[in-house]
Amino acid sequence: MRSSIVIDAPGLSVADDFVKCQSNNYNHNLYSRYYIISLSFCLLNPLVFLLHPLFRPCIVNFIFNFLCHIYLSIMNDLEDNGEFQVVKHSSRNKRRNNRPRVNSKFVADNKVVDNNVPVEEIFEKVQAASQKFHESPFRQTLLYELNKALRQLDSKGIIDIVCYGLGNFSEFNCPKYQLAALLTVKSTYSANVFVYDPLFTNNESQCLKLLNLNVIENNEEGKRLIQNHTTLVFMPHCSKQLINNFLYTNWSPLIKNCILLGNSWSDIECHTTDALFQQTIQYMYKLKPYVTEIKLQNNFQYPNTFSGTSIHIFTEEQLDKIPSDFWNKKPVLSRDYNDQEFIAA
Ligand SMILES: *[C@@H]1O[C@H](CO)[C@@H](O)[C@H](O)[C@H]1NC(C)=O
Ligand SMILES: *[C@@H]1O[C@H](CO)[C@@H](O)[C@H](O)[C@H]1NC(C)=O
Ligand SMILES: *[C@@H]1O[C@H](CO)[C@@H](O)[C@H](O)[C@H]1NC(C)=O
Repeated sequence: MRSSIVIDAPGLSVADDFVKCQSNNYNHNLYSRYYIISLSFCLLNPLVFLLHPLFRPCIVNFIFNFLCHIYLSIMNDLEDNGEFQVVKHSSRNKRRNNRPRVNSKFVADNKVVDNNVPVEEIFEKVQAASQKFHESPFRQTLLYELNKALRQLDSKGIIDIVCYGLGNFSEFNCPKYQLAALLTVKSTYSANVFVYDPLFTNNESQCLKLLNLNVIENNEEGKRLIQNHTTLVFMPHCSKQLINNFLYTNWSPLIKNCILLGNSWSDIECHTTDALFQQTIQYMYKLKPYVTEIKLQNNFQYPNTFSGTSIHIFTEEQLDKIPSDFWNKKPVLSRDYNDQEFIAA
């Protein structure tokens, strides 16, 4: 069976240029690449530390973590099977291109997405992934941190889960294991799950329905008004604009009902200039000082699946500090129409 790993990092748009390493078996070609990769890492990592005086420490850490992710994933994949694919983000400029973040979450080059995967096969893949996820230490981490968040919110459990922008899970590893995590949380709390991604194929939607998830039919652009009970908003590696849309729609003290799981806000803050943050993702910018962020220790076998992911909550104590006119919002969510990320969900 074909399997591939696409390496991705939070807060980055996947650029056109990427390095692919593919091999069908443990042939000598692969081994020579293995040595080149190892050698490059030995040379690159000290270089990253030389950058310390030049950049903010979080940026240097980010680069270092990113290199480690690539390295670990390659090693993992060498253990698993001989076929792998590495997506490398090229230049800083590319990153600024404001590409549709979600649509380009997983890039396939010569690998055409197989839209004809039968439902049963997708279902089996998801089951196998769930099994693997069940045995992973990350499952414990996730549930432990969620319980911690629930305690801080004085909540008894998660009633609803809204999940946006999962991706083509029938084909790619990241969304597949993210779905496995979602299913784990669903069964732990007996929660109702609503999922949406414009990328889902018909058969992927069918599979989600078989798994007892509610597939949202139209693109809400993240603007779902949550009920007055604890809701997990599950958007691993989703665009910050999508989070912003969600915050805009639920802009009231009832935001205390939300547990947002997705790209770390502190990472986003670190990679965005203050002016850009304020302009393009203003609701997130406004709430940033009041958020409680719980970083998830990234101990999953495929580190890129949950890299840079945090749980974000708004505790009563923090919300009490907010003046009530803070919750006044503009009647229309201001959009930057140049920003393609808005339309993605
Ligand atoms: C979807 O699944 C069905 C049955 O599992 C299969 O016959 C079909 O070829 C698949 N693909 C599409 C595009 O419907
Ligand atoms: C995911 O599936 C959709 C529907 O088949 C397809 O159009 C899209 O290109 C796929 N996404 C990626 C990133 O391959
Ligand atoms: C939300 O629920 C809480 C407790 O169940 C209740 O006290 C509160 O009035 C509700 N708020 C709204 C706006 O419905």
